Amino acid sequence: MSEKHLAVVVLAAGEGTRMRSKKPKVMHELAGLPLLGHVLATATSLGAAHVIPVIRHQKEALTDYINAFYPTVKIAHQDEVPGTGRAVECGLESLPSDFNGAVIVTSGDVPLLDVPTLESLLEAHLEGSYAATVLTAIVEDPTGYGRVIRSNDGKFIQIVEHRDADTEQLEISEVNAGVYVFDAAHLRSALAKVGSHNAQGEKYLTDVAAELLQAGKKVQALAVSDNWLVAGINDRVQLSEVAAELNYRICEAWQRAGVTILDPSSTWIDVTVQIGEDVTLLPGTYLKGFTTIGAGSNIGPEVVITDTQIGDSATVIKAHVTGSKIGEGASVGPFAYLRPGTDLGADGKIGTFVETKNAKIGRGSKVPHLSYVGDAEIGEETNIGAGTIFANYDGINKHKSKIGSHVRSGSHNVFVAPITIGDGAYTAAGTVVRKDVASGELAMNVAPQRNLAGWVVANRPGTKSAEASKN
Ligand code: UD1
Ligand code: MG
Repeated sequence: MSEKHLAVVVLAAGEGTRMRSKKPKVMHELAGLPLLGHVLATATSLGAAHVIPVIRHQKEALTDYINAFYPTVKIAHQDEVPGTGRAVECGLESLPSDFNGAVIVTSGDVPLLDVPTLESLLEAHLEGSYAATVLTAIVEDPTGYGRVIRSNDGKFIQIVEHRDADTEQLEISEVNAGVYVFDAAHLRSALAKVGSHNAQGEKYLTDVAAELLQAGKKVQALAVSDNWLVAGINDRVQLSEVAAELNYRICEAWQRAGVTILDPSSTWIDVTVQIGEDVTLLPGTYLKGFTTIGAGSNIGPEVVITDTQIGDSATVIKAHVTGSKIGEGASVGPFAYLRPGTDLGADGKIGTFVETKNAKIGRGSKVPHLSYVGDAEIGEETNIGAGTIFANYDGINKHKSKIGSHVRSGSHNVFVAPITIGDGAYTAAGTVVRKDVASGELAMNVAPQRNLAGWVVANRPGTKSAEASKN
């Protein structure tokens, strides 16, 4: 079958009331992507000619996301008639009227479903010329799911929703996974016949299967081998359970690819992250967004790293890092806060209790202790003294500081931007640098120090300091 004859409909029009959230259910995140992002990534990987998400509730948020990340898919809108069957019907209206072939239906709230499972379901469907193929799962607790009813010889008969099932049917542990392949023409004609005489007054997609059987068509139900792949998310308890399982699988895949992960249960890695060989991730590591970690780097414990590129053999300990670059062999932390636009060169250092923002710090340069570096450009092999503040904000505007290479700035300096300090310059301890410093100069503006003899004994009589002063 060519991809021209394949369409994928993704159901995402439900209200998601069980999430109890202002955010649409399918926009809740799992490993760095919204649930819908996981499903659309899979749907678009099948190479189908048509991928059609069906939306209704909170459609603005969903439309914005889909248009931004999946601009080629065609959004369909469900009308006021409720139910998964109606949702598919509305989705089919977006297909060309002469479309014939297979229609895969998946749900926006079943995020772990993967491409191989859908491909083999499609293959089994086409091989036997079925009108419908239903994916099922055999579960310990079938509460809430539609039950799969089979005849004594195991043939598929129908799906009965939990709310419509009798006590005997409620005992059945094989459930509808909410994933199907249909023949397009048969799906259209069966949907036209499905009503909404059920406990929820909805037009159920699940009734299509029995409708097709009645019309003398072939329907099969196949059980998935790995139940996690079809886990549906209806509330936040299920969201965290699926998140933990997915994270465990992501960690395992990286471990097999040569990454040491001491404690997968406290290491959270988004699906969008890339990690090199021989990287070590220590407990409490969160790698988020478009983050890449170069080979041989040591990360953690206790770091949150988002949208950041880290070179080979770097070290990041107890740090919060966002939108930054950390060069090869560089070291960060402990207790460092790297904000967007930080660019630390190879072998550079951002040390303890240091905050940086929009700061380019050249190769081999160091900001080791207790400093704020904002809107700055620092050359190579410069050392910024402990407790230095780049005063970049005049209350209205931000200004830039430019520090050359091989500069040695004293402890407890303030660089009042805009300011330029030339290559090789020095600044004395406690200097407030308000004027540019040329290459090779020493800048100092400390007030002369006065020592008043006998002051303690005269002014603090009877104190331990006064006693000590007499010795
Ligand atoms: C559905 C199935 C159930 C199956 C379960 C698997 C039906 C009638 N029931 O139940 O047999 O065991 O999935 O997870 O299909 N949606 C729409 N429009 C609507 C209603 C729902 O697009 O009018 C979408 C939802 O956004 C969701 C999906 O369809 O992505 C499933 O809807 P949901 O309400 O979660 O159905 P379940 O009760 O889980
Ligand atoms: Mg559901």
